[in-house]
Amino acid sequence: MAKSIMERHTTLERNITLLALFAFLVVAIGGIVEIAPLFWIDNTIEKVKGMRPYTPLEQAGRDIYVREGCYLCHSQMIRPFRDEVERYGHYSLAAESMYDHPFQWGSERTGPDLARVGGRYSDAWHVQHLSNPQSVVPQSIMPSYAYLKDNPLSPGDVEGSITAELKTLKDVGVPYTKDDLANAEADLKAQADPNADTSGLLKRYPKAQARDFDGNPAKLSEMDALIAYLQVLGTMVDVNDATAQEDLAKEKGR
Ligand code: HEC
Repeated sequence: MAKSIMERHTTLERNITLLALFAFLVVAIGGIVEIAPLFWIDNTIEKVKGMRPYTPLEQAGRDIYVREGCYLCHSQMIRPFRDEVERYGHYSLAAESMYDHPFQWGSERTGPDLARVGGRYSDAWHVQHLSNPQSVVPQSIMPSYAYLKDNPLSPGDVEGSITAELKTLKDVGVPYTKDDLANAEADLKAQADPNADTSGLLKRYPKAQARDFDGNPAKLSEMDALIAYLQVLGTMVDVNDATAQEDLAKEKGR
């Protein structure tokens, strides 16, 4: 008489070697299903229209953001939940942080998410808020960063120069071109100088916002760089268009 399935299972459970072998097989199948497809797809991140590397000034601002520890209180990832989307805007796409090294998703929200703060406030609001947060939001616990306005921008403190920094980013996969590198210093200055010729900058970095950001055109300050960075956050991709692209990609079975 054939053994019932329960009896067979008893055999399995009473033989430690057999049990270990079968447990391993079951876990291995789960692993293969997750890992194997990665060897056949070209890319784990969908390319999305509008994404471009940061301009030198935005990148310098990003360094200041990291240096000042803004990520300790602010996340940069809008999760796909209704409450988040209603408060902060379209949920973040993977592609939107593809040029971030390191990414700034964060794990703590003492203050609001900043993934789409670009364009939400004027430059003057940012200057006022960063200099004295309580003057615009009385109950704010955000500290003052007024000194950024006095600090002249000396980008690439870590790497030596902005050119060297962009080169390093290129090494880890950010598609800066030779042209971008050759013009890094000039682009950095031009973006915050209202009198500069920005045609080259705009060609290299489509839709880059070029103007004096900190309210003092005579000086290129760390405040200029930080605000240039804040104002670009979440604005590169036309999210509605991107969603359409994502859906299309899904239909194609990617
Ligand atoms: C101690 C925590 C803390 C740190 C550090 C901090 N913030 Fe904030 N931030 C807050 C809080 C709380 C708010 C909400 C109240 C307000 O607007 O001031 C806020 C608000 C903001 C806003 C307005 C966001 C919105 O959607 O209204 C911006 C922009 C911002 N912070 C930028 C920064 C930057 C840039 C830095 C680093 C230079 C920084 N914050 C550091 C706590 C912090």
